[in-house]
Amino acid sequence: MSNRIAVVGTGYVGLTTGACLAHLGHRVVCVDVDEVKIAQICDGIMPISEDRLPELVAEGRGAGRLSFTSDVVEGVTGAEFVLLCVPTPQAPDGSADLGYIESAARSIGPHLRADAVVINKSTVPVGSTRVVADALGRDDVQVVSNPEFLREGHAVSDFLNPERVVVGADSEEIGLRVAALHLRLTAPLLVTDPASAELIKYASNSFLALKLSYVNAVAAVAEAVDADIDDVVKGLGLDGRIGAKFLQPGPGWGGSCLPKDTSALVRIAEDAGYDFALLKQAVEVNTDQFRRVVDKATEVIGGPVAGRRIAVWGLTFKAHTDDLRDSPAVEIARRLVDAGAHVVAYDPEVDKDTPIAAGIEVVDDPYACCEGAAALVVLTEWPQFGRLDLDRVADALEAPRIVDTRNVVDRSALERRGFIYRGIGRT
Ligand code: UGA
Repeated sequence: MSNRIAVVGTGYVGLTTGACLAHLGHRVVCVDVDEVKIAQICDGIMPISEDRLPELVAEGRGAGRLSFTSDVVEGVTGAEFVLLCVPTPQAPDGSADLGYIESAARSIGPHLRADAVVINKSTVPVGSTRVVADALGRDDVQVVSNPEFLREGHAVSDFLNPERVVVGADSEEIGLRVAALHLRLTAPLLVTDPASAELIKYASNSFLALKLSYVNAVAAVAEAVDADIDDVVKGLGLDGRIGAKFLQPGPGWGGSCLPKDTSALVRIAEDAGYDFALLKQAVEVNTDQFRRVVDKATEVIGGPVAGRRIAVWGLTFKAHTDDLRDSPAVEIARRLVDAGAHVVAYDPEVDKDTPIAAGIEVVDDPYACCEGAAALVVLTEWPQFGRLDLDRVADALEAPRIVDTRNVVDRSALERRGFIYRGIGRT
């Protein structure tokens, strides 16, 4: 069945969701107050880099099922379902800032048709379904929570092949109607109350953060006891209860979701009278991981980084995205600068004119990046970093020294070439 859907907000979640719902056969209007962005999307220029997204947008537009507008009223008028996909950034106290979602709800409220269903896809604290309902100011409109579980870089595939669809609604009938929007997808469906749906989202991202802090902590132990983290992780992952996914140690976790959602859950718990010490500790382990990477740079050089040129490969928060938000790579580069280093960085997705932070120079060639540097620090797991010419790298560096925080460059090849090496979880 095809439904008329409006999607408010064309960020990672909104644009992907809109394009995928149109692909599933629905009639979708994507709305964003940013006129320039809407004009660019209509010209085929995607504001984000996501696999298959340009094709799905073109497909939906070509079929007349997907349109874009910066006119909120035009977008939501007559829509049976309105999806709110606006940002919920972190407020200074760690909580989620609901400013965008409240103002979006206020602006669409008067223009919704009677019996419309507003679906909240933004990640909002438990109880926010009520906040949205209040901001809408409409008794004849239902609000439900339908959290997204899309990974950047894999968002289209995650939407079309979900591991679960979660809907939180006060009435089962509405919950099932929202679930029916995803009927062509084969995934377990959970219809629950709004608070549980909202908590599922925070608990999921926080669990992933806990898992990564755990594996980074185990990696620190592995380094100290002469164990190999690759084998440890393989062994761990063979236990079906633990699972092999999301066990790669690294420079620390980041991005636009895990850091803000862990802080928000700590805050939600605190407001509810529970001290979520476990999660706070996971955040501290993560911050400490950044320090450990800077220490490794000092170790390979055999002295302080102050006054030295340090080459950095990778600035995005993970591979297959151009997103720099809350990137561990940028945080570590900044810490190297704070320690007195001159950082020269290369990232395949970051243009050389992109301002990152004071003291961080971006270049557009991985070998030029290494020219005269005291050491190379690899911070993002771009697969191409594992295929570069190590002879050229070694010749460019002042001396062959590397810290590979993603264990992406072949260690034996490095050692054969005489590199002084530090990885994560490897002695
Ligand atoms: C995360 C969740 O994975 C999605 O399920 C969720 O929908 C999304 O947040 C969101 O809330 O919107 P994303 O932020 O795209 O997705 O990033 P992840 O792929 O989860 O990676 C997060 C961080 O963990 C990155 O810094 C990454 O490098 C790191 N990571 C991930 C590791 O260090 N090791 C791993 O094995 C996996």
